[in-house]
Amino acid sequence: MAVIPVDVAGRPYEVRVGTGLVASLVDQCSPRLRKRRVPVVTDANVHARWGETVETALHAGGHEAAWRILPAGEASKSWDQLSATVDWLLAEEVERGDHVLALGGGVIGDLTGFAAAILKRGCQFIQLPTTLLAQVDSSVGGKTAINTPAGKNLVGAFHQPALVLADLATLDTLPERELKAGYAEVVKYGLLGDADFFAWCDAHGAELLAGDAGAREYAVAHSVAAKARIVAADERETLGLRALLNLGHTFGHALEAQTGFSDRLLHGEGVALGMVLAARFSAARGLMPKASAEHVARHFADVGMASEISSLGLNCDGPALVAHMLHDKKMDAGVLPFVLMKGIGEAFLAKDVALNEVAAFLDGELQSS
Ligand code: NAD
Ligand code: GLY
Repeated sequence: MAVIPVDVAGRPYEVRVGTGLVASLVDQCSPRLRKRRVPVVTDANVHARWGETVETALHAGGHEAAWRILPAGEASKSWDQLSATVDWLLAEEVERGDHVLALGGGVIGDLTGFAAAILKRGCQFIQLPTTLLAQVDSSVGGKTAINTPAGKNLVGAFHQPALVLADLATLDTLPERELKAGYAEVVKYGLLGDADFFAWCDAHGAELLAGDAGAREYAVAHSVAAKARIVAADERETLGLRALLNLGHTFGHALEAQTGFSDRLLHGEGVALGMVLAARFSAARGLMPKASAEHVARHFADVGMASEISSLGLNCDGPALVAHMLHDKKMDAGVLPFVLMKGIGEAFLAKDVALNEVAAFLDGELQSS
């Protein structure tokens, strides 16, 4: 097992990465589970696959699970589910010192974390991330949120978990498409600040996706360590460092919006395409060698992921994609910062990007085959 400290001021915690952590969760969580009943928030898919393992683990440790099982999918990050979850925690008489378990992907982690942030002005929660995306990104760093009709993740709070248990065994039941979507966030750490790790992804990414246990543990632990360093240095995203974690997200978000935040394009698939676009846009601006940008595109194509937005059948032009960016929550006094690259592993925040320049670039990308 790898143990990665997240040294946020005042609330340091550990991320543990290994196999069998859900089955041994009472030992792992000791001494945090103070009462017989343990509140567990999850979704229907995860409950179907991992509910029994959690029940057995809790019973063996003298506990019982109090389940809140939400419908799977992004729609559960809603005011309605938040309010119902908070009411349920109140009915369960959860106190500030109690720990709520969030068992699932980023949807469950974000919603449960936000509920924990506001319950009695803040109770404890433990992340048990079950998707690759959640293990390497959303479970670490304390960003919690729900969506509103105005957009994704627009209402939320910074609220750090007390502990994160990333059980690699849970990835065995994850659909391949979800695994690949999460893999985009792994590659992100290489592209933004660690060329050696991108080279590792080139050499071993396919093994990770095929289920190689060593490759999975290395990639998850390495990604978490990278995120932990960034979060410890810039927890509230005020120093321009944590913002680098948005590499590919501004372009990707526009693609997700254009496809209606639907199954047509998963978040991680949008991030992969977004990173290709960020690399090519950087090359078009003369910041990064064109060959490096094409290397990024080739990497995703080689592992069987989409690397060209022309393949999405979007039926729109560049300005239509840019229109989605106008509502980006990173917009600051009319300027939208873009994470661009000077090379692989050399991301930086650019605040001089004109949106008509982006629109013209996207027009070209939509037309190229
Ligand atoms: P998700 O939680 O919807 O999970 C994806 C799908 O996989 C769901 O259908 C789920 O039921 C299923 N699933 C989860 N674990 C499984 C398992 N082990 N076996 C079988 N099926 C399983 O999606 P996600 O990709 O994990 O997370 C996306 C969310 O994360 C978005 O809402 C995004 O905004 C958020 N996010 C948050 C942060 C952050 O820093 N807080 C960072 C990135 C993304
Ligand atoms: N996923 C972006 C962040 O945690 O800042």
